[in-house]
Amino acid sequence: MERTHENGRLREEHAGQSVRLAGWVARRRDLGGVVFIDLRDRSGIVQLVFRPDVNQAALDAADRLRSEYVIAVQGQVVLRDAASVNPKLETGAVEVLVSELTVLNTAKTPPFAIDDDGQVDEAVRLRYRYLDLRRPQLQQALQLRHRAVKGVRDFLDGRGFLEIETPYLTRSTPEGARDYLVPSRLRPGEFYALPQSPQLFKQLLMVAGYERYFQVVRCFRDEDLRADRQPEFTQLDIELSFADQEYILDLMEQMLAELFAGVLGAAPERPFPRLTYREAMDRFGSDKPDLRFGLELRDVSERVAGCDFKVFADALARGGVVKALVAPGCGSYSRKDIDDLGKIAARYRAKGLAWMIVEEGGAVKSPIAKFFSVEQLQGIVGHTMAQAGDLILFVADRPRVAADALGALRLHFGRTLGLIEEGVHRFLWVTEFPQFEHDEEADRYVAMHHPFTMPMEEDLALLESQPGAVRAQAYDVVLNGYELGGGSIRIHRRETQERMFTALGVGPEEASDKFGFLLDALDYGAPPHGGIALGIDRLVMLMAGQESLREVIAFPKTASGSDLMVGAPSEISQEQWDTLQLQPTPSKQPRPPATPLVAVPGEQ
Ligand code: AMO
Ligand code: AMP
Repeated sequence: MERTHENGRLREEHAGQSVRLAGWVARRRDLGGVVFIDLRDRSGIVQLVFRPDVNQAALDAADRLRSEYVIAVQGQVVLRDAASVNPKLETGAVEVLVSELTVLNTAKTPPFAIDDDGQVDEAVRLRYRYLDLRRPQLQQALQLRHRAVKGVRDFLDGRGFLEIETPYLTRSTPEGARDYLVPSRLRPGEFYALPQSPQLFKQLLMVAGYERYFQVVRCFRDEDLRADRQPEFTQLDIELSFADQEYILDLMEQMLAELFAGVLGAAPERPFPRLTYREAMDRFGSDKPDLRFGLELRDVSERVAGCDFKVFADALARGGVVKALVAPGCGSYSRKDIDDLGKIAARYRAKGLAWMIVEEGGAVKSPIAKFFSVEQLQGIVGHTMAQAGDLILFVADRPRVAADALGALRLHFGRTLGLIEEGVHRFLWVTEFPQFEHDEEADRYVAMHHPFTMPMEEDLALLESQPGAVRAQAYDVVLNGYELGGGSIRIHRRETQERMFTALGVGPEEASDKFGFLLDALDYGAPPHGGIALGIDRLVMLMAGQESLREVIAFPKTASGSDLMVGAPSEISQEQWDTLQLQPTPSKQPRPPATPLVAVPGEQ
């Protein structure tokens, strides 16, 4: 049974060697008296040949093999003749002439072909995930994931970081999502919360003097799921004492550059570009801009000031902006095409999408052209740098709405016009995030990162008087339009933390009830500290060139949070209800919701 080689590693230099291999039958072809088997293991595929002149009994047995049978073989590596070399297979220059075959197990016909080209319903794939995981693409993705995690562990170990585990059964950690709750049997009516992140524990480890901590840690967030969000996901969580923002960004750049060089053979350029939040929103309409293409937004408020178009004039009068995006070469779009663009903008709360087409010779065609002077039209075309044949789109609204809507359209054009440079990794840092976001519905401020983030020193004095203007010492690392990680310098003085809670509308009693342990700890010599967490799933997804986290997680959940294979979530028995002293029917009078401290992750 013991193998001498992995199937996918056989090359020309092995020719002539006697080998023992094992694996799964990926494909069987019977070519008139000779049988070919593609034998798969996690390293790849090699072709086996069964010939009557080598072993007739093995050939007969090979004829009865079916897809996914598990076999072991003994044979000799031989070079293929020039005509049958398969350049698509890494082992394509050789094949193995089999002298002995052992069938280790049979298999039912799988519900789908185990290959990467089939368009198989994802629900079926997830139900039979153990078969899906045999696909080369997933095999490679999980091997890449292993190497990436090992790479960052080695890097951090080499820099003096200790990996320390923190509890999964804990209290609520505010990161903006809902908590997953676990009922306590020993204290009926009380619940643990699964951590949304180990945020408070890692800060307390700094108070405890551990100086440099990291953890590859599962986090749990009950939020609406998308292709880049799972209810449980893995963070590379990092915290260090006596370090400022500059040190942390530099350390992370070193780590990511080494990781990409080591695992993918291509290090990103350093230093990573940096944009302040303001600049990212103004230029790209996003706090996680995809820098693989240009297409920047333009503020045309000044150019259209005084125009007769009521929509623009009203927006400006209310303190809003008029922003523009040029869609290159889209001047031939039909009304229907433009209506469809309007629908995208509407999803981001834009109340409309105005447009102009620049014609040959520079004339402007638009139903709203009549509301502008010739100078204004020229000003718009000049400022947006639109060319003949281009379509200019406008949103007049609050800055955030204009940014969100045009930012989404920018991404739409990046994709549909093929502007995105494939195969590259464009990192950047976004810095100087606002400390607070204003929750319109509740008319109160919530933390944009989390309530433990330190404001920028120069803005600290504005905490009470002008919270909306306070910028945080918070930073995100962005890769190809995805938020890969985020972190901040933390508040390490009790008094500042108390001011922060007050600014968030959390009274002393609530603060002491929920975070008393943190406030107390800050009294006992808390060092200045800060940190960051990177989403490992997102990191590996981007390294693997995938667009869904499900392609890099062994056993992921669907968009509705289910595991289709094991059937989770599931109902529990009456006995379990009784043990936990819980009732199957929810109480008619739920308690009023606790104060949310953090912005719920936005759309986009
Ligand atoms: P944050 O909430 O920004 O920060 O999370 C850090 C990173 O975790 C990843 N991530 C997710 N990945 C998959 N599915 C999800 N549902 C999901 N949610 C988040 C993202 C994100 O950038 N405690 C802070 C970190 C700190 O301040 O040190 C935190 O958790 O890649
Ligand atoms: P209306 O005057 O509402 O008929 O709108 C005229 C044009 O302006 C239409 O193309 C609308 O889509 C567009 N429009 C309406 N509101 C806005 C807005 N806030 N920003 C940009 N364009 C808008």
